[in-house]
Amino acid sequence: MSEVREGNGAARSASPLNKVVLASNNAGKLREFAALVGAAGIELIAQGDLGVPEAEEPHPTFVENALTKARHAAKLTGLPALADDSGLCVRVLRGAPGVYSARYAQLAGGEKSDAANNARLVSALQGESDRRAYYYCVLALVRHADDPEPLIAEGRWHGEILDAPRGSHGFGYDPYFFLPSLNASAAELEPAVKNASSHRAIALRQLLARLTEEA
Ligand code: IMP
Repeated sequence: MSEVREGNGAARSASPLNKVVLASNNAGKLREFAALVGAAGIELIAQGDLGVPEAEEPHPTFVENALTKARHAAKLTGLPALADDSGLCVRVLRGAPGVYSARYAQLAGGEKSDAANNARLVSALQGESDRRAYYYCVLALVRHADDPEPLIAEGRWHGEILDAPRGSHGFGYDPYFFLPSLNASAAELEPAVKNASSHRAIALRQLLARLTEEA
């Protein structure tokens, strides 16, 4: 493995990124990422398959959480690691549930489930005419736990919040996330269509382009 060292800084390893651990145990994300990076010749290994537990997400920003998760997985596996932190940002709720999307209902005393999160969202928007929202995703790729130059990419997917669910694909808020340009909710899209246009797809394309530039 070759390394580039500058000053006293940590090495930015130049090892090939053909085997990467995905720092997430979310089955929905795993499916989407596997489909997206398989085409780029990168073998993605779920951190759960390597015995890595879910990392804490203590930070108030997506990028800090993504980096924390990636570092955690790289440290415990010795492999390059890819993490995403993502969420739903609703305009009239001033960006909520945002970075707390996975725990939106739990923070109000409810359970940690998609159904409870969606119920809280619908209730927060009851009678509201401005339904604009976007999914946001930050990806962080570290070559090793102390990588001083993590690759960071982001993506936004704009839509509107429905007050009744539509569709059965996807996960999380997808049944309530409507894409006017596709005239469908995210849960009504075939997985391949969501994978081609989602916030994660946008961020991942940006990340893969950066990797290609570096190669
Ligand atoms: P994270 O694991 O902290 O990144 O949590 C992301 C949360 O945001 C998920 O648990 C979902 O609630 C929501 N989310 C992110 N991306 C999507 C998506 O593509 N569809 C539906 N919900 C999403």
